[in-house]
Amino acid sequence: MSQDVILGIESSCDDTAAAVVDRDGNVLSSVIASQTHIHSHWGGVYPEFASRAHALVVVPTIERALKEANVEGPNLKAIGVTRGPGLIGSLIVGVNTAAGLGLGWNVPVLGINHLRGHLRSADLVEKRVELPAIVLLVSGGHTFLARLESLTEIQLLGSTRDDSVGEAYDKVARLLGLGYPGGPAVDKLAKTGKDSIPFPRPMLNDGFEFSFSGLKSAVGRFLDKNPEVDHADVAASFVSACMEILITKCRRALEAYPAECLVVVGGVAASPQLREGAAELCDRLGVKLCLPPLKWSTDNAAMIGLAAWDYLNTGVTPPLSATASLKITEF
Ligand code: KG4
Ligand code: ZN
Repeated sequence: MSQDVILGIESSCDDTAAAVVDRDGNVLSSVIASQTHIHSHWGGVYPEFASRAHALVVVPTIERALKEANVEGPNLKAIGVTRGPGLIGSLIVGVNTAAGLGLGWNVPVLGINHLRGHLRSADLVEKRVELPAIVLLVSGGHTFLARLESLTEIQLLGSTRDDSVGEAYDKVARLLGLGYPGGPAVDKLAKTGKDSIPFPRPMLNDGFEFSFSGLKSAVGRFLDKNPEVDHADVAASFVSACMEILITKCRRALEAYPAECLVVVGGVAASPQLREGAAELCDRLGVKLCLPPLKWSTDNAAMIGLAAWDYLNTGVTPPLSATASLKITEF
């Protein structure tokens, strides 16, 4: 008998994930097979190894998610699978697996934009987002601000011209010898240091666009010239520069457009410094802050499942083809 649940599958980068979610965003199961142990050796994601690892674990990961949710494949309402953006070899593993399962189980399969998944992560477990909203998406691959009039009408305000903020965190982590993944390690070290180094804030005064490569290079140059510097002070000063940029741009967007809430999503939304900074800003402006639960800020399949619900019964079937580059404004 058909159950009112969707299976989400995520394999765009270095996590193989499967989850079962209902239409209200309740998560019946969420399984994540991390590849950190494989990529930490290289200090970043090694694409060929990522796709091979996805291929090895994708079926057992899905089996576990279904078992934990007590759902049989043929009884699913649909399957939602990340179709992009991401590493093409990794995406193909998830998309082809989903296509095969959908055919075998006679269940519809919807290709989901990973960025839409992050956006919908803010409504997991509890409905939080109120419209219209301003969205800050900060992940390893993307950094942008957007306006959300409805769940399907997304207007991009500005994105990064070069690196994403997550990429900058990861590169600074490497410069500081903190290993991979770098974001949480930089945050932790930053808490023990002083914000004493005046790193640049690129494009701080320029509209809604971002740039982080100059900041990352400035950290590298500073470390070359000051090999004895306390790394905790470098981390604290770097995080402080990132936060000033992100919070200033959010404030600008909230002052420029009517918004019920600020939605902050993507892996860097796991940063306690960003969570605190966004909370202070929203308090000051009297706007609601919508954050995903901490464990669903970074890549997961529950957010992909919830995003898939948006397409059911709308007459719109997003394409299933794996696509490495996909904008937030595309399906
Ligand atoms: O959304 P995500 O899991 O994957 C992509 O879609 O890219 O984001 C990963 C990024 C990485 O750059 C990672 O360093 C960063 O999110 N990240 C953090 C934290 N946790 C993960 N950055 C800052 N503070 C954190 N606590
Ligand atoms: Zn992501």
